[in-house]
Amino acid sequence: MGTPEKARLVVLASGNGSNFQAIIDACEDGRLDAEIVLLIVNRPGAYALERAHAHAIPTQVIDHKAHPDREAFDAVLAKAIESVAPDWIVMAGFMRILTDGFVNRFLGRLINIHPSLLPKYPGLDTHARALGAGDRAHGATVHFVTPTVDAGPPIVQGKIEISPDDTVEGLKQRIHGIEHRIYPLAIEWLIEGKTDFDRASAQTHPAVVDASGNQIIPPSP
Ligand code: GRF
Repeated sequence: MGTPEKARLVVLASGNGSNFQAIIDACEDGRLDAEIVLLIVNRPGAYALERAHAHAIPTQVIDHKAHPDREAFDAVLAKAIESVAPDWIVMAGFMRILTDGFVNRFLGRLINIHPSLLPKYPGLDTHARALGAGDRAHGATVHFVTPTVDAGPPIVQGKIEISPDDTVEGLKQRIHGIEHRIYPLAIEWLIEGKTDFDRASAQTHPAVVDASGNQIIPPSP
């Protein structure tokens, strides 16, 4: 029997790509038995491209502005993804709303990270909304993508406490820190079969990791 092949990841990003970098690092240091076979960005100037080049990861720019509508963009995106036969499609700061047809085509293999403790604060400006509401806790969620934006089954959440002197910028940085911890972890669980779409859909509470990295609720076996 030959060596089992590494899991194939396609990453979708729009901007800085610090979560993409966290996944690169996890692949390179052996935490993830995975290979990033393609980075796709929808913005030609996305810094994530530089990160890919520095690690010899193939890239493709699919500029949404060059396509007449969402259907046309998503069709090109789907074709690019399928051309490299990935096991998992990882959205890491990919600022596009996807069509139902696209999402359903990749249902169960398409994951996203969102900077809030979903179902709280789907959409934008999550840090300001958590602060404005006087919340004591905030966080980030890795979840399967379904046609309703930011509403798919959660896999793992990273949780931090909000202190009275927190600012939007400070929260953003701390949330990034916990995102970089939980995104590789969620991918590891998927690759190792510790969770999947059906099990994530059936569980009432996702696993939670706190700011010190302690796992509060384990994934279901
Ligand atoms: C992250 O906060 C993520 O939760 C959200 O977009 C941001 C991307 O940051 N979806 P980066 O590009 O990975 O640094």
